Amino acid sequence: MALERTFSIIKPDATRRNLTGAIVKKFEDAGLRVVASKRIHLSKAQAGEFYKVHAERPFYDELCEFMASAPIVAQVLEGENAIAKNREVMGATNPADAAAGTIRAEFAESVGENSVHGSDAPETAEVEIAYFFSGLELVG
Ligand code: CMP
Repeated sequence: MALERTFSIIKPDATRRNLTGAIVKKFEDAGLRVVASKRIHLSKAQAGEFYKVHAERPFYDELCEFMASAPIVAQVLEGENAIAKNREVMGATNPADAAAGTIRAEFAESVGENSVHGSDAPETAEVEIAYFFSGLELVG
């Protein structure tokens, strides 16, 4: 199987609780490699642009407020089947439904403050990576 890249965010609830290293370890233990990483504090407008696909959802404003409430760590993860692998390691969106041992089962506080984001398909991975990183910043 070919190497694949996916986009990942360690969200404000996790950076606030100093969980960046613990979460990165979960990715690395699963065979994913961090090939780009930056810690940034999004504005609400930048968070809104990133999540614009959810603009009509009732939780959109709350989601954008939250994502701008503290720093995030934006990352590109590389590995075989990286998109599916990342979603497996993250666990279900709602931590109440997340399998034991997943990031969201261990660390997420609620469906909104769920510690991590990961791309859901190759097309979204490409768009999301390009929103945060230039090609020069991807170092495999
Ligand atoms: P994420 O994978 O980043 O994609 C969209 C996010 O919206 C999702 O994770 C959740 O954090 C958030 N979200 C989804 N459903 C709800 C909800 N019912 N209430 C608040 N936030 C939600």
